[in-house]
Amino acid sequence: QTGLVTLDGGFGNTAAYKSAITFLDGEKGILRYRGYPIEQLAERGSFLETAYLLINGELPTVDQLSGFRDDITQHTLLHEDVKRFYDGFPRDAHPMAMLSSVVSALSTFYQDSHNPFDEKQVHLSTIRLLAKLPTIAAYAYKKAIGHPFVYPRNDLGYVENFLRMTFAVPAEEYEINPVVVSALDKLLILHADHEQNCSTSTVRLVGSSQANLFASISAGISALWGPLHGGANQAVLEMLESIQAQGGDVDSFVNKVKNKEDGVKLMGFGHRVYKSFDPRAKIIKAAAHDVLSALGKSDELLDIALKLEERALSDDYFTERKLYPNVDFYTGLIYRAMGFPTTMFTVLFALGRLPGWIAHWTEMIREPGSRIGRPRQIYTGVEIRDYVPVEER
Ligand code: SDX
Repeated sequence: QTGLVTLDGGFGNTAAYKSAITFLDGEKGILRYRGYPIEQLAERGSFLETAYLLINGELPTVDQLSGFRDDITQHTLLHEDVKRFYDGFPRDAHPMAMLSSVVSALSTFYQDSHNPFDEKQVHLSTIRLLAKLPTIAAYAYKKAIGHPFVYPRNDLGYVENFLRMTFAVPAEEYEINPVVVSALDKLLILHADHEQNCSTSTVRLVGSSQANLFASISAGISALWGPLHGGANQAVLEMLESIQAQGGDVDSFVNKVKNKEDGVKLMGFGHRVYKSFDPRAKIIKAAAHDVLSALGKSDELLDIALKLEERALSDDYFTERKLYPNVDFYTGLIYRAMGFPTTMFTVLFALGRLPGWIAHWTEMIREPGSRIGRPRQIYTGVEIRDYVPVEER
């Protein structure tokens, strides 16, 4: 059964969940969603069918996929009162803060969605979250730049709708570029799940107290925000820009990392599980080249990233520590070429990861006898002692 077991069968410090959703092999660089290799899904699938697969366990038939897509289309609009939450945020609020706040607030609009054992309600909350997160994300961007919100349109596909809500302005329509649509759809697939990463484990832990799905996903968004996790894609771009500002001097940056100066890290490198290569990084690196050339954009930061990767992979410091490019190393360059500011990069990660979070929450809730998560600890504090009145201290 799923649940928290320790790998060594005892009080080991590596606790492991059991789950049937995603398989990854860190040594061999293997990643499969419900048994399907990520390479095949990224190449031939779509994000919505991948979301369906993760949540339901099987790839959808034609009818199931069109029904899933139609359900989502019907729920993309936000309640007008939800829009008012954005009025309260300061202009420079980070979009991840807006995302987690608004998602948590959604639960107040769907009071009947709080019973995690009501399958009908959980399905409706699943559809509402998949449908509304792109709208919430686009509105966060519009708030940041002081532009009017653009309503979703039902005649557009999932990614097209998000791009238009993000970039269209009343003065002119946003020209939907199929290269951008297919690249973003592929990136969402590659981010859709990754077994027990920090944010997914957060969603499971919060959900294990029988908190509703909106509250659990909001917690996952907050966990993803951290620069060691999903926030790394924004940190990579900031790292590349700082190297560029130093005249593209990759060597001196690498030396700073090796000397651990001010705790600086090679962002977008390293992984808790992948100790060879991250299969997603290979696909994204190729996509970065394709998108930039298809958009007719060259980006000096891509050249710096390639130099940085080559330098690190030929340096024992990194290879001995099994530090290789992870999913975040190249994504930011693609998002930038698409027109997104760095503050939106982790929001895009959240859009991709949403179906994985929902799938894990649902698996955990549906597990017979699933119990509240309650990690134990090894006490390292002082032994018992008696209270001393303040005058005698
Ligand atoms: C994601 O879990 C997931 O699956 C996450 C994710 C997902 O899909 O959900 O894959 C997405 O979060 C990818 C990771 C994005 N984060 C970054 O790119 C931030 C930079 N990376 C590091 O912070 C780090 O590699 C972690 C957090 C990703 C993993 O950390 P670990 O496995 O705990 O490694 P560690 O901190 O124990 O480091 C081991 C050694 C240390 O050196 P020593 O003390 O042995 O001398 O490697 C060094 C670390 O200092 N090290 C790095 C480094 N990562 C680890 N040194 C320089 N640059 C780095 N990036």
